[in-house]
Amino acid sequence: MTQKSSTIWGGRFDARPDDLMEQINASIDIDRRLYAQDIAGSKAHARMLCACGILSTPDEQAIQSGLDQILGEITSGQFTFRRDLEDIHMNIETRLKDLIGEAAGRLHTARSRNDQVATDFRLWVREACEVLKTHMNGLMDTLARLSGEHEHTVMPGFTHLQVAQPVTLGRHLDAYVQMLTRDLSRLDDCRKRLNECPLGAAALAGTPYPINRVMTAQELGFDRPMPNTMDAVSARDFATEFLFVCAQAGLHLSRLAEEIILWTTPQFGFLRLADQWSTGSSIMPQKKNPDAAELIRAKTGRLNGNLIQLMTVLKALPLTYNKDMQEDKACVFESFDTLVLCLCAMNGMMATATWHKDTMRKAAETGYATATALADWLVMTLHMPFRDAHHVTGRIVKLAESKACRLDELSLDELQSIEKRISIDVYSVIRLK
Ligand code: ARG
Repeated sequence: MTQKSSTIWGGRFDARPDDLMEQINASIDIDRRLYAQDIAGSKAHARMLCACGILSTPDEQAIQSGLDQILGEITSGQFTFRRDLEDIHMNIETRLKDLIGEAAGRLHTARSRNDQVATDFRLWVREACEVLKTHMNGLMDTLARLSGEHEHTVMPGFTHLQVAQPVTLGRHLDAYVQMLTRDLSRLDDCRKRLNECPLGAAALAGTPYPINRVMTAQELGFDRPMPNTMDAVSARDFATEFLFVCAQAGLHLSRLAEEIILWTTPQFGFLRLADQWSTGSSIMPQKKNPDAAELIRAKTGRLNGNLIQLMTVLKALPLTYNKDMQEDKACVFESFDTLVLCLCAMNGMMATATWHKDTMRKAAETGYATATALADWLVMTLHMPFRDAHHVTGRIVKLAESKACRLDELSLDELQSIEKRISIDVYSVIRLK
């Protein structure tokens, strides 16, 4: 008889898995990131088993101290992760057996890896929401500060990327603060919805032991146990929701990144990135490239991809746990890491950029940005129907265009040649403030 693979589940097996089977089955290289959550979940489970009289006090104490030691070994880099032990759960349980012997085997009473991994993963995503919120707040603080500083900095506002109406840089930047405020509230929602505890669902059908699910839920900071044991082990919508929030926030960052890329071109010249946030070209000595902004724009691809990846894995999966679901973590970890990096880089870039107010103002003076204000003046002062005011303004724009001048450079006579009731007051709206 060949060596059995797993002392954990190998009872009915005569042969160890093929090397490739082991390779496709193992998740330890990815899910080792769940070690702290796995240990916290096991400690809470052991306390509950003891409180319910399912585990003796000496066994429980041995488990607690063994798990504490393992936590120390992992955080100090001394722990050896083994691929033949598949995943983080079995790596930790096997080490616990080395350390405390038989009592380790009692930890898995009234539990399955299915409710265990669902619990660990929820704890991890919950923490990830908090970390992302901190970084989002950091960027929002920078943008809000800049927005306040540029409350009166005039720039062109664009639609279709054509000059539309004058706005302030303050308002433009505040638009991003608003987007991030919504992203933050989406993270709050996600965190709130995921905060239910799967423990006690066991494999799928619950467990015959007299356990206390409310206790484990409370110990781990969950609001309540999940009411349906089958849902508890098979639900992953908390992960897709998290991935969506990451993708949406990344999408917002990509829009700001795109504007930075445009605005740092010599053609726009609205802002200049600090040297620390730019790169050079290996051939063109004059170049200063906004690479960080370009990469933030590009990382949206990963964030969107990760959302689609997990939704595709989960689509049409029958209840309850399927091994497909092991593919749920890499994408979540990657989206988290990517978004943290993008938020920090965007913050650094924005905090150190120099804004060219004169260039922005000049740009707002081109493109007849005050034409809408003129039409509104005709409506409010002369009581013209808006459509007529629009038409009259169009003719005035055409006149300015033929003279290659700005609207406020037309004389009153010239303006009156198109609409005789226009008065000198009109200059207060067609001239930039
Ligand atoms: N590594 C597994 C995962 O991440 C843990 C759950 C395994 N459950 C099982 N029934 N094989 O999904």
